[in-house]
Amino acid sequence: MKALTPHFEKDKTLKRLGLKDINEGTSTGLHNFSGKDVLESYSPVDGKLIGKVTITDKADYEKIMAAAARAFKIWRTVPAPRRGDIIRQFGDKLREKKEALGTLVSYEMGKSLQEGLGEVQEMIDICDFAVGLSRQLHGLTMHSERPGHRMYEQYHPLGVVGIISAFNFPIAVWAWNTTLAWVCGDVCIWKPSEKTPLCGVACQNIISEVFTENNLPEGISSLINGDYKVGEFMTKDNRIPLISATGSTRMGKIVAQEVAARLGKSLLELGGNNAIIVTPDADIKMTVIGAVFGAVGTAGQRCTSTRRLIIHEDIYEKVKTAITDAYKQLRIGNPLDETNHVGPLIDKDAVEMYQNALKQVVEEGGNLVVEGGVLSGADFKSGCYVKPAIVEANPDFKIVQQETFAPILYLLEYSGSVENAIDIQNNVAQGLSSAIMTNNLREAELFLSVQGSDCGIANVNIGTSGAEIGGAFGGEKETGGGRESGSDAWKVYMRRQTNTINYTTEVPLAQGIKFDL
Ligand code: UN1
Repeated sequence: MKALTPHFEKDKTLKRLGLKDINEGTSTGLHNFSGKDVLESYSPVDGKLIGKVTITDKADYEKIMAAAARAFKIWRTVPAPRRGDIIRQFGDKLREKKEALGTLVSYEMGKSLQEGLGEVQEMIDICDFAVGLSRQLHGLTMHSERPGHRMYEQYHPLGVVGIISAFNFPIAVWAWNTTLAWVCGDVCIWKPSEKTPLCGVACQNIISEVFTENNLPEGISSLINGDYKVGEFMTKDNRIPLISATGSTRMGKIVAQEVAARLGKSLLELGGNNAIIVTPDADIKMTVIGAVFGAVGTAGQRCTSTRRLIIHEDIYEKVKTAITDAYKQLRIGNPLDETNHVGPLIDKDAVEMYQNALKQVVEEGGNLVVEGGVLSGADFKSGCYVKPAIVEANPDFKIVQQETFAPILYLLEYSGSVENAIDIQNNVAQGLSSAIMTNNLREAELFLSVQGSDCGIANVNIGTSGAEIGGAFGGEKETGGGRESGSDAWKVYMRRQTNTINYTTEVPLAQGIKFDL
């Protein structure tokens, strides 16, 4: 039975999220901005206009910065556990609005509804994490070398934190950053991707309600909209001590240089070229699930998407057949229809990049196992739907060395020991996520050892994507080195201060230096 094509209940969803036809970038309570230009948001699902947001100009930005600076003076004095309680309330509102927000993510970005809801869940999870953290922003105490002295360290908030996020996780990555920064006592200004601006306004509306209900000032959370030029207001602004940026390596290099030029801090989460190593001891069924979800989930547009499968020659044909068979089951179409696995790419530029990558890999000598192609017809009117492709390739091909944000999976064969596979896995410029499929303890431990994966994330018998919020998230090399989300990633949003207190009547100097007056 063919499922009814679900349509986006625009009025109902937008109303539930407080969205209008034209929306302003705001900080709570600030209105009547001068910016006149608007950004239009079209859905990749059906090509229809969803809504518009005003682009933030310099004058509006200055108003927002002033509100943020005022808000920081108040917010930093609110006890951290009380700040945690505000974030708990934000999490509660996200629970109430999960369906509407998840649906908007799916419709504006194109990922499956399950993944859209998953993204909201990731926000709820980080809220819970931040609430716990609000009572755990610990520093250490040390023993002083001087008698009658006490030494310890404490963490203070940085000030205004700038967040630049990407279209592929239009709301969760902001939440990873902003909830931790808020709990630390910072205030945040967020520039969401210009491809998913309504998701940004929806989140701002939800958090604004919380601040208003708690009589907290405007400016703890602010939203600015536009392209990279609006992002530059923040990267070049030395009133912003930390910029957290997620996106391409190309963008990250620009941001890093602009922020470093003013000696600001940046937290970068950039491109990945993630691989799964499949050894002769792999469970093939588990491998297929991990690899297929990793390669086609979010239509291959996660930073953590699986791009390379490095398969041992002894099982190469078997794995190739199993994966190819699984691809035959994939249903591509409207991501709001839960029977579909793969939705559209974000826009037509992304489709072109996908096509160019497939052309290039063939020119370099690759062999198309599952051909791919752009879908046309009534169900695919937006022109953004593509078929996931599988290509047998060589690890050294130029295109295989790059991150193409599309569902293209490269099959690479290795022979001999697992060390050879690890070499292939590490021999790329990026270092985000990696995985090994094996039931062999020696191989698994070697992969995780100092001689193993050089990535920020290394998994055993799990694919490369779908990390939990509890661990620190990020990667090495061209991935940018930043860590967000769980573990002790909170420390980047704070400044550390070492305090030494003398409770004697003498002033002994450290290192035994004598200075008698
Ligand atoms: C990203 O693609 O920028 O691990 C983030 C995952 C998700 C987050 C991805 N939890 O795939």
